[in-house]
Amino acid sequence: MTLDEKIGQMTQFSGSLPEYESMIEEGKIGSLLNVYGASETNRLQKIAVEESRLGIPLIFGLDVIHGYRTIFPIPLGSAASWDTAFVRKAESIAAREASSEGINWTFALMVDIARDPRWGRIAEGGEDSFLGSTMARAQVLGFQGKSLANPLTILACGKHFVAYGGAEGGRDYNTVDVSERTLREIYLPPFKAAVDAGAGSIMSAFNEINGIPASANRFTLTDILRGEWGFNGFVVSDWNSIGELVKHGIASDKVGAGIEALKAGVDMDMEGSAYLELLENEDNNKELIDNAVRRILREKFQLGLFEHPYIDENLSNKLILNDEHLKTALQLARESIVLLKNDNALLPLSKNLKSVAVIGPLADDKNAPLGTWACVGKSENVVTVLEGIKKSVSENTQVYYSKGCGVSSDNTEMIEESVKIAKKAGVAIIVVVETAKMSGEAASRSDLNLPGVQRDLIKAIYKTGMPIVVVLLNGRPLTIPWIKENVSSILEAWYLGIQSGNAIADVLFGKYNPSGKLTVTFPRTVGQIPIYYNHKNSGRPNNPSDKFTSKYIDLSSSPLFTLGYGLSYTKFKYSNIRVSSKKITSSESLIISVDVKNVGDRQGVEIVQLYIHDVVASVTRPVKELKGFRRISLDANEKKRVEFILKPENLGFYDQNMEYVIELGRFEIMVGGNSVDLLRTSFEVIEK
Ligand code: NOJ
Repeated sequence: MTLDEKIGQMTQFSGSLPEYESMIEEGKIGSLLNVYGASETNRLQKIAVEESRLGIPLIFGLDVIHGYRTIFPIPLGSAASWDTAFVRKAESIAAREASSEGINWTFALMVDIARDPRWGRIAEGGEDSFLGSTMARAQVLGFQGKSLANPLTILACGKHFVAYGGAEGGRDYNTVDVSERTLREIYLPPFKAAVDAGAGSIMSAFNEINGIPASANRFTLTDILRGEWGFNGFVVSDWNSIGELVKHGIASDKVGAGIEALKAGVDMDMEGSAYLELLENEDNNKELIDNAVRRILREKFQLGLFEHPYIDENLSNKLILNDEHLKTALQLARESIVLLKNDNALLPLSKNLKSVAVIGPLADDKNAPLGTWACVGKSENVVTVLEGIKKSVSENTQVYYSKGCGVSSDNTEMIEESVKIAKKAGVAIIVVVETAKMSGEAASRSDLNLPGVQRDLIKAIYKTGMPIVVVLLNGRPLTIPWIKENVSSILEAWYLGIQSGNAIADVLFGKYNPSGKLTVTFPRTVGQIPIYYNHKNSGRPNNPSDKFTSKYIDLSSSPLFTLGYGLSYTKFKYSNIRVSSKKITSSESLIISVDVKNVGDRQGVEIVQLYIHDVVASVTRPVKELKGFRRISLDANEKKRVEFILKPENLGFYDQNMEYVIELGRFEIMVGGNSVDLLRTSFEVIEK
């Protein structure tokens, strides 16, 4: 290969501008993003395969995040299902649909941990590393299947490497300053899980980490990723994140930026043309360039692109939005809904109600439920909340509808009309929202209240004294203490994708008993941020009756809703927590078991959660850490014994020398249906 051809493999552009065609022919582009449709990808692929000197196929990448055309819930939503098998299935469907339209590679899974819901990209991730790691594995297996050579699988990409979610102030792209311990214990594990599951690519992030931009960070990209973890896929930069090294101030121009990224371990330059400029540089980077090209070509081989560079142009018709895909989307959407409150068992509503009022600015909107990164999803395929409700109720039920207000506007004129229809109906379902654009990339918010006058809308209807169900459509935790305090029932319904309205109606009218549990902490106000369940104890843990303890003088220390929280239409009772042994050595596993009984009168699904706490260690440990979960279905009155295996690797941490160790001593074990209401026991790790 000539240097030009090598650099070509390391270069990716967005779209299909006419000038790219001659570049492909000259071997100067190895990958395109944002180009899809089998005839279009085949046309461009033909130039690469049949008209370039070496005939190396292009790899087509796209952000297939939560579905291709069949749009599933946003990742923060689907994680709330805690259903790894289903998440895996959803991603395999996304892969099938995307590959049938010529896509070989997705810029997913997004495995950034975030503890600051102001950061809009929390919609794509979550708060906990253990859950994040489990979901990471499920997603890689979903996208990549058993063999990448299967033309209906696509290459996965773990992003954004790394600590992108640690942006100061929750402001996207902002500086990240994080200790090596937090990096290793919180931010890195989901990436490690993705690599262990076989993810073929990793994306280097926009942010700096402790003074070194992630896209020029040898420590993370080479020492950890390749050295410690043995990753042998390739690293793609985020969009122009190599060129942006100039703005970061660690290179004076694009050529310098390219050299820094190359030295750090970035193999492909996304839409930045920094590597193209390496051409003018001498050949002193030969070995680094050869390695980068080798890694990229290896993945192209793995994908079978050399054997079958083209895709059957009739395939997508059979696959896209087929029945099985729609059914999966519906089930995952149902499982993602979290019931946050249900006083006096207002829900489920009877489908034979005489009338019901559906109120809210986007209750009949076909865009919002698609959420951020909706790929090529189309609003015409979305079932709105209003549509879902109309389909669910009996023929004789009168459904009234009013927007009530806009999302962000201050105009309160429509509120009166909503109050009127609510009064007529006797029960109001109020759908309050952030628009899809209010979360995701470049969508940080400084205020997490409901936008506009939506809270006034709820208050006006609340004043009538009638029962109210609030349905939330949003991409992040919102600060809703007034709603929690006053409204009877609250459903967190995120952006659930195309089956949104059907799934929400199924929960509202009891066809599906809600089972979702939050995977992120909801603060009471932005002043509490960062707030997360696995915090440290401090030397002066919060004690309401002692001023000189860690707290705010004007705010409770507890969150509005904690991680793992979510209600059901039935109730579960936990008892008999046991450990298989009270003393184990550091190389032994432990079995933890507990009885869970459905003590209500209908079938339900419970997410049983296991937390641990290392009581005394050489470095401070979180007050609790999630280390396992089980999703179980129980009929009314049914009881099951649930078992967890705690392995040695679940007990360790990084000591003062950054060595991974398991220390002797007592561990507390906590099991329950959320991260606060827990049964406890303990065991000890002793010397062999
Ligand atoms: C920038 C985003 O940060 C990244 O997540 C995405 O994959 C790329 N743009 C490509 O669209």
